[in-house]
Amino acid sequence: MSGNISFDFNNSLADVVGQDNGFTEEDIKSVEKKVTRAVSKIQEIREKGNPGFVKLPFSREVASEIKIFADSIRSKYENFIVLGIGGSALGNIALNTALTEPYKKKHGIPKLFVMDNIDPEVFVSMLEGIDLKKTVFNVITKSGSTSETMSQFIIIKTLLEKVYGKKYKEHIIATTDPQKGDLRSISEQEGYKIFNIPENVGGRFSVLSPVGLLSAAVTGIDIHELLAGAEKMEMRCRESSYLKNPAYMYAILHYILDVKKNKKISVMMPYSTKLKDIADWYRQLWAESLGKTRNVDGGSVFVGQTPVKALGATDQHSQVQLYVEGPNDKYFVFVGVSKFTKDIEIPKGFEDKKSISYLSGHTMGELFHAEQKATTLALTKAKRPNATIWIPEISENSVGQLLYMLELATAFAGYLLEIDPFNQPGVEEGKKLTYALMGRPGFEEKKEEIEKIDRPNPGYII
Ligand code: PA5
Repeated sequence: MSGNISFDFNNSLADVVGQDNGFTEEDIKSVEKKVTRAVSKIQEIREKGNPGFVKLPFSREVASEIKIFADSIRSKYENFIVLGIGGSALGNIALNTALTEPYKKKHGIPKLFVMDNIDPEVFVSMLEGIDLKKTVFNVITKSGSTSETMSQFIIIKTLLEKVYGKKYKEHIIATTDPQKGDLRSISEQEGYKIFNIPENVGGRFSVLSPVGLLSAAVTGIDIHELLAGAEKMEMRCRESSYLKNPAYMYAILHYILDVKKNKKISVMMPYSTKLKDIADWYRQLWAESLGKTRNVDGGSVFVGQTPVKALGATDQHSQVQLYVEGPNDKYFVFVGVSKFTKDIEIPKGFEDKKSISYLSGHTMGELFHAEQKATTLALTKAKRPNATIWIPEISENSVGQLLYMLELATAFAGYLLEIDPFNQPGVEEGKKLTYALMGRPGFEEKKEEIEKIDRPNPGYII
């Protein structure tokens, strides 16, 4: 049993970082109406189970089905390859980085590769590096038609069919909408194993659905514990007093610092290499959910903080100069790990060299914690607002808590901003323009639109 994660926002207080940078009680009071409305919106989601991400922590039957399937295929393959992009890939990468051991020789556990791009050099080199016979592909797309994923799928299907004829289908698993979309109909027709993404769960909120759970289970992650952690966070966050609710408080502070203190950039900086891809997953969640032109009434608002990911201690030697001395336009969230499951002592040596001998006798974990503390202090001294999410230790349970807290916080922040956090019209527009450029029937008007606006002046190309 893992302990609770905690959210320490002391360094976000105006008393600590100044009125212009931190929040005061009055700031919170001034948004109380919005907060009350957001609390009831989340309550409504819970009651309706729609959007469905709030139900995922409880989807234990689905998890059991996935686990049985994962156990049955694990020893058959050397490679498990996800074909997917955005919300159909980032959660898989985040779970894999956080909860598996990259350097350990693994027997009977496939290697996970997540092909979340269509860079031909990388895709072809992946094909050159794997043995198709020892590989299973998990095609993940909610819409069933995303051009990046479907182009990869067509290539793989054709290659597999050449090798196996009709038996090729054993090497493809589809994860898609329960009813709609091309991948759905193709999968039914071809007879692939299919996992459903609940109809009311969108890409970036789907990590705890079969989207993220299958590759996790195949690579040996305890998906029941992951869901147990998410459930624990959901139960904690049913607390309506926001001061005791980590997800609500996280959203409220980001909202106040964005709207009232002009912190337009939200930096997430884990002091844990294992958690670095959770920061990447979160970057999509925050950006795509909150970056919106219009509010729910159709008015122009142009909202959304720009999320940035950083990694401690690595980025102390890359970004922290800017963070401490550059524009005071950021809100920092550190993610710290209280207890490392593995640690190593720095041995004695070079006692005559004062500039390094002080390290001896300490553990690497102590140095890591000291550096996290030092960066926090440097930012606080420079009046840069910051907060820390503390993870007791990296485990399925605590990662489940963290992912779910961030999902709920994102939805809550969307309601404070009075936008729809669950749509992505900007992404859809890019998808339509790609279809037009690639000659998809039905997108002829878009093609004409492109021809009108896409007229670069050669004089400005040097
Ligand atoms: O969050 C989202 O909805 C998007 O980022 C999608 O996950 C992404 O565009 C991929 O879509 P699909 O799963 O339909 O292929």
